[in-house]
Amino acid sequence: MRIGVFCSGGDAPGMNACVRAVVRTAVGNGHEVVGIRRGYQGLLEEDFYVNSDGKPLMTLRSVSDWARRGGTFLLTSRCEEFRTPAGQQKAAAILERHGIEALIPIGGDGTFHGAVELARHWKGHIVGCPGTIDNDLQGTDYTIGFSTAVQTAVEAVDKIRDTAESHHRMFLVEVMGRHSGYIAVYTALAGAAETVCIPETPTNLPAIVRELHELKQRGKSSVMMIVAEGDEEGGAQILHDRLKVSGCPFSMRVMILGHMQRGGSPTPEDRMLASRLGDWAVHAVLEGATGVMAGLIGGTRVLTPFPETYAQHKPLPADLMSLIATLAS
Ligand code: F6P
Repeated sequence: MRIGVFCSGGDAPGMNACVRAVVRTAVGNGHEVVGIRRGYQGLLEEDFYVNSDGKPLMTLRSVSDWARRGGTFLLTSRCEEFRTPAGQQKAAAILERHGIEALIPIGGDGTFHGAVELARHWKGHIVGCPGTIDNDLQGTDYTIGFSTAVQTAVEAVDKIRDTAESHHRMFLVEVMGRHSGYIAVYTALAGAAETVCIPETPTNLPAIVRELHELKQRGKSSVMMIVAEGDEEGGAQILHDRLKVSGCPFSMRVMILGHMQRGGSPTPEDRMLASRLGDWAVHAVLEGATGVMAGLIGGTRVLTPFPETYAQHKPLPADLMSLIATLAS
């Protein structure tokens, strides 16, 4: 079987490890892998990965040393043309012309929406792997890249705490997560932050100001507030400006971590997850699955139909918010 693999949407640490697993499992079992560069955009432009021998099929050696490398060697993109039926039909024709019988897209909800649309025009099998730092997909406990993004954010928070302590300041640290507080909550808990603002729970500024006064009275000299970029009241800069005119008792600074959370060498957890899911996706394709995402729940391999991965908001573990508050005291 000839399998196409590509990365799409925001890059996530571990995508390379996932492609490596796809190639090693597929080629090792006698199948062919076409690496499609730049996601759906590259597919529409027939931009395929070419080996040093000039051939477009990936080999076992094509992915040597990929497991530990950040970013994505296949490159990625967000593609407007593919959102149209004409773009999807064009992609289907290209896949047929190149004899590609199955696809393994690695990405987030946008990537899987695209896969659902493509399946309306193309008969090949599609099994996705969850690759996004946001951890906002149902059907898997964790997405590829989340662990590394949290590690990066916690390292930053640890460093910022040093300067916050030295100046007796409060820092508002903004982390990624357009619609999800996963990175924020994990960073807050692991980074021993005092408070966290996320899209899933109402952000009540007067209550936060009261809490900050209490923390000050209890002798806290520095405060770390983790803000998810998608908080309904706004990002860290907006919250800073509003807290400033609302009687915040601390001198404040803002730190927006931004895209550095998407870079860097993947953690062992992300490499493990990516390797297991890449392998699982190939086996699922070979067993005839299609229209599904390969995931791991409680260590067990599962397949979830694409629409179910993004139809509902992935809830945060209920105890984490209250634990942050308990531990901050
Ligand atoms: O979906 C991953 C993500 O990093 C989000 O957390 C963030 O809001 C978004 O991508 C940023 O996208 P871009 O790099 O296109 O600005």
